[in-house]
Amino acid sequence: MTALDARPDTSTVLRFPQGFRWGTATAAYQIEGAAAEDGRTPSVWDTFSRTPGKVRNGDTGDIAADHYHRLDEDIALMRRLGVTDYRFSIAWPRVVPTGSGPVNAKGLDFYRRLVDGLLESGIRPVATLYHWDLPQELETVSDSGSAAGGGWTERETAYRFAEYAGVMADALGDRVATWTTLNEPWCAAFLGYGNGVHAPGRTDALASLRAAHHLNLAHGLAARVLRGALPASAEVSLTLNLHAVRALSESPEDRDAARRIDAVGNRIFLDPVFHGRLPEDLVRDTAGITDWSFVEDGDLATAAAPIDSLGINYYSPAVVAAGASESPSPWAGAERHVRFEPAPGPRTAMDWPVDADGLYELLVRLRDELPGVPLVVTENGAAYDDYADPSGNVKDPERVDYLHAHLAAVHRALADGADVRGYFLWSLLDNFEWAYGYSKRFGIVHVDFATQRRTLKDSARWYAEVIARGGLGA
Ligand code: FCB
Repeated sequence: MTALDARPDTSTVLRFPQGFRWGTATAAYQIEGAAAEDGRTPSVWDTFSRTPGKVRNGDTGDIAADHYHRLDEDIALMRRLGVTDYRFSIAWPRVVPTGSGPVNAKGLDFYRRLVDGLLESGIRPVATLYHWDLPQELETVSDSGSAAGGGWTERETAYRFAEYAGVMADALGDRVATWTTLNEPWCAAFLGYGNGVHAPGRTDALASLRAAHHLNLAHGLAARVLRGALPASAEVSLTLNLHAVRALSESPEDRDAARRIDAVGNRIFLDPVFHGRLPEDLVRDTAGITDWSFVEDGDLATAAAPIDSLGINYYSPAVVAAGASESPSPWAGAERHVRFEPAPGPRTAMDWPVDADGLYELLVRLRDELPGVPLVVTENGAAYDDYADPSGNVKDPERVDYLHAHLAAVHRALADGADVRGYFLWSLLDNFEWAYGYSKRFGIVHVDFATQRRTLKDSARWYAEVIARGGLGA
């Protein structure tokens, strides 16, 4: 038996379809470490995390979970869990250190070893090209005013991204099953350039809207490059953190608040990528910020390059009402019209509400709005204050409850006709949780950051059982 202590249980109550993909997910900057090794150059996250006051405790990803040096151990862990798929991201500054130009062979070697190790273990590699670690060189505006710089606010960055996608497709296209262009472009655009809580930390509503558009463009350009270079069997996808938005009341004002967040949180990506257009209400809502003249002819058609599946990351829903948001707000054009209300119910260590219905709502919405587009839950999970007890166990019953409820929601969506192909648990390992540093633990494997010792939490054993039995027990 490959999966850990798993005894297939005949009393399965919720069985998932044959071939359903059971995965775990991570991201390069959150786990790799080796930030200055083998030719990697700084990303915007290296710069941001070194800026005083930006990341809790001054934490950085310099060492993180030291995955760069513990690759084999981490693949062995996944093998013990019995996962069918592993979603990881590639650090652009490791592969193309200056963001454009020479390719770094040592960087590519690392991902070759990862992919080969996964394949030898019977695990399908699912690679994300961009999980927020933009090469710093592409962000910094040089004194000479060269074309580079400005990050996602400039369209040049989208073309550099497509070149990098081509490099990766040439290097690993024959071995990676699924290529995801971007992870959560909403966070990259609106947390990175809008309220500044993520790298590069800018607070400029216009910059955030420009970034969102250039991310859509980058996605479309890269999807075309990938399609041209990859074998027909490889899948091309995009992962969005769609917001499950609920109006606090049925009043027209509260419902309008929900519409606004849906426009600038969801449809700003869904409409260009699946329909080649911008939402009209978004253009109206943001008229005080921009006339969108940075959208050039053909850009939206480019963004709408066909893809094979849509990834959805889901953690919790948002409840909104008419009002005003805190400043600086990531919600360009909605700042003075929307306030966020605490959702009821239990909360995780992130203070995020636990509400699995939100995941169900998103999946059935996409079933209706995007018929024929296969869906994959590419992230779902929860942070709790886990610790290893004196006998070395990590008991995390709240996480097991959270995961159970969310998998049950996926099952319910499947039963109601949503075409959900897989579920990737965030995360395999405790890691660098962006602005929260190492203070939040999302892993099903506990990492002692002083020793880098890995310990399976109870949730890891539970997940192994779920995978072995192909569903949820009683
Ligand atoms: C998502 C990110 C991921 C992780 C989880 C908790 O927004 O994609 O890297 O930080 O949140």
